[in-house]
Amino acid sequence: MPNSKPIKDYIRTIVDFPHEGIMFRDVTTLFADPRGFRMAIDQLLHPYAGMQIDKVVGLEARGFILGGAVAHQLSVGFVPIRKKGKLPGAVISEEYQLEYGEAIVEVHDDAIMAGEKILVVDDLLATGGTAEAGIKLVERLGGEIIGCAFVIDLPELGGRAKLEALGMDVHALCDFEGV
Ligand code: PRP
Ligand code: MG
Repeated sequence: MPNSKPIKDYIRTIVDFPHEGIMFRDVTTLFADPRGFRMAIDQLLHPYAGMQIDKVVGLEARGFILGGAVAHQLSVGFVPIRKKGKLPGAVISEEYQLEYGEAIVEVHDDAIMAGEKILVVDDLLATGGTAEAGIKLVERLGGEIIGCAFVIDLPELGGRAKLEALGMDVHALCDFEGV
């Protein structure tokens, strides 16, 4: 039987998590479904068919699950961008804003070579702060970003506009109104 269920219908919404007033878009239900997960990986890659991609960069933590599968599908390497203090080698760092306070993400300074074509992958685009920090890290190492691919866009939070203003091609499989 053909699978006509849209990606959005695999994503569970948890009300008031992690705190009151937040509608948490939970991708674990998408990841746990064999058809949903495969369809998500296929759809993340669809716009880039036939294009050269040398490496996939995934943003901790949920971007690792998607990015690893995307890299495997392309038979290319995977590079993790991790939260501060997790990577053992020499790193470069970028700070970004959270709802309360700041956070820092890091990448190994030898993980990307100048001129390599990079696809950035994460589960969710909200304010775009996390993705922007990742983009800066990739570009500081000389990587050329072909696109930034997400399962979910929350357009009201402005992330897509922020990344497009940086010249990025933004691809999202679905969007949700409200935060
Ligand atoms: C979430 C989500 C994105 C980011 C999006 O990650 O997975 O990475 O927030 O928000 P932004 O566009 O406003 O930056 P989070 O840091 O909450 O945790 P995770 O380690 O579970 O992915
Ligand atoms: Mg995340």
